[in-house]
Amino acid sequence: APQNLLLDRRGGAPLATAWITLNRPAALNALNDALMDELGAALLQADADEGIGCIVITGSEKAFAAGADIGVMAGLSYADATRGDFITRNWETIRRIRKPVIAAVAGHALGGGCELAMMCDLIIAADTAQFGQPEIKLGIIPGAGGTQRLPRAVGKAKAMDMVLTARTIGAEEAERAGLVARLVPAASLLDEAQKAADAIGRQPLLAILAAKDCVNRAFEGPLAEGIAYERRQFHAMFATEDQKEGMAAFLAKRKPVFTHR
Ligand code: HXC
Repeated sequence: APQNLLLDRRGGAPLATAWITLNRPAALNALNDALMDELGAALLQADADEGIGCIVITGSEKAFAAGADIGVMAGLSYADATRGDFITRNWETIRRIRKPVIAAVAGHALGGGCELAMMCDLIIAADTAQFGQPEIKLGIIPGAGGTQRLPRAVGKAKAMDMVLTARTIGAEEAERAGLVARLVPAASLLDEAQKAADAIGRQPLLAILAAKDCVNRAFEGPLAEGIAYERRQFHAMFATEDQKEGMAAFLAKRKPVFTHR
């Protein structure tokens, strides 16, 4: 069993939600290789699980994650960091996950914690959430996509502000800037995340996988290529049984029963 995570399965029919709770409370969920290895394994397992439609990653009320583990990084040399590909070597796993991943964020999401949240497909934030890339204060820069995903999410102005001055932004500013999909009261964060996960879990999985894949293309490569890719995926949906079922059910004014085929 993992040492740094709590794993849980919630919600129900037809597809359940895999919940992954980061659990290193003594270090505000600071991220180290052990935690990231466990996270990668848990994500792959959920992705392969036929009963799962959506994955939620969350932390504690106090911290989603306060960044990469500074205790580990403090003594690293350039050679250590480079040869070990510190921490980031197992971050790429998250990008391989084909099912939707929701970050349910309360409290600190700093440095690698903010980057981890941004690697998820959507962020639902409690009003207590704080996002920041304070690496500069430690003599480093963001190393898990912060300089790339943050400007895509909030634009250059706010990204530069956050990365260069280490300013942390609250949930409201993050929502206004487009970093956060939904802003909810802290007390209902987990419920709201489960509701969003259920809304995804009710949909036909093949279409969900294609939709996530296509939206991600919007951030990679030229527009024309993304549009062409989307069109092929769109056409491919007509090879699925769920397309027939979804449309037949609509026309018959009944509820669809998806088989994810
Ligand atoms: C290791 C950490 C930690 C971290 C907190 N802790 N953040 N340990 N790495 N990133 C530990 C503290 O040392 C402390 O341990 C315990 O968690 C509680 O933290 P406090 O500081 O006492 O809590 P508080 O006063 O509430 O302040 C919360 C905080 C502060 C504002 C979040 O902890 C903080 O500034 N943390 C560092 C944030 C940061 O710089 N993150 C970016 C890291 S660089 P003890 O044992 O004293 O109780 C990074 C690079 C990413 O993320 C690159 C990706 C590859």
